[in-house]
Amino acid sequence: MKLIVAGSTGFVATEVIRQALSNPAITSIKALARRPTDVPQNSGPGADVSKLKSVVCDNFEEYPESVKQELAGADACIWLIAITPSQISKMTFLEARKICLDYTVKGLETMTPVASTPFRFLYTSGANSERDATKKPWVLGDFCLMRGECETAVLDFAAKSQGKVQPCIAKPGLIDAPGKTGPLMSVVQMIGRSIIGLPKVQRSEVAATLLHQAVNGIEKETLFNEDLVRIGGTALAGSGKTGE
Ligand SMILES: NC(=O)c1ccc[n+]([C@@H]2O[C@H](COP(=O)([O-])OP(=O)(O)OC[C@H]3O[C@@H](n4cnc5c(N)ncnc54)[C@H](OP(=O)(O)O)[C@@H]3O)[C@@H](O)[C@H]2O)c1
Repeated sequence: MKLIVAGSTGFVATEVIRQALSNPAITSIKALARRPTDVPQNSGPGADVSKLKSVVCDNFEEYPESVKQELAGADACIWLIAITPSQISKMTFLEARKICLDYTVKGLETMTPVASTPFRFLYTSGANSERDATKKPWVLGDFCLMRGECETAVLDFAAKSQGKVQPCIAKPGLIDAPGKTGPLMSVVQMIGRSIIGLPKVQRSEVAATLLHQAVNGIEKETLFNEDLVRIGGTALAGSGKTGE
């Protein structure tokens, strides 16, 4: 199958690509980002790096024709372009909304007509993102509602696609990875997470879940943190790998 990884230079995408390189069911990986994507470190001996092609797009509001051609014929897209809460202070809310919402909808509009049928579209949101505008979370309320709006936009687009787009919304809590945080920061994060009730998942589990759903079909439209731990853990165990 042909897979697009959008936002391929990011934290989660790097692990998605690392695992995808060793997955024989995936024959082509188009790594879509605003700058070149490198082959992930520790790809492993079973990795077929010839499957990976870096596709640089300098305008996510209007895709150049050359980029559209690279994306044609995809069976699935794992969409990971977004602004995380830690980056929100570096830009206006409108800019963050454009990157999170407008880019995603434009991505769907651009890829769907040239994709295979069905086209699986996996959108990674967050555990605290809220689709119901009357239930504004007390922490990062506007941001969480905006990300909930993105989830709704993906589901609405799929609903209008007459079965072509098969959507999946992944809602991880805090995503951890080996070496991501030092001991002190881990304690601070644990306290913060317990106050706002944010669960935790390993990056390898998130990546394994997204790839499993892209290749084998979507189990359910919304995957919560516990689903990512369960599906990802089972997929990693089945592949003989337990993590990064
Ligand atoms: N990390 C976590 O703990 C966590 C927890 C829950 C949910 N999530 C969700 O998981 C998804 C991926 O998160 P992540 O941690 O992998 O994020 P990340 O490392 O910040 O990667 C984000 C990707 O989006 C791209 N991007 C950002 N701004 C852009 C712009 N203006 N134009 C084009 N591309 C842009 C980045 O490109 P550059 O590399 O060029 O900046 C990168 O490829 C997000 O939806 C996030 O909300 C993450």
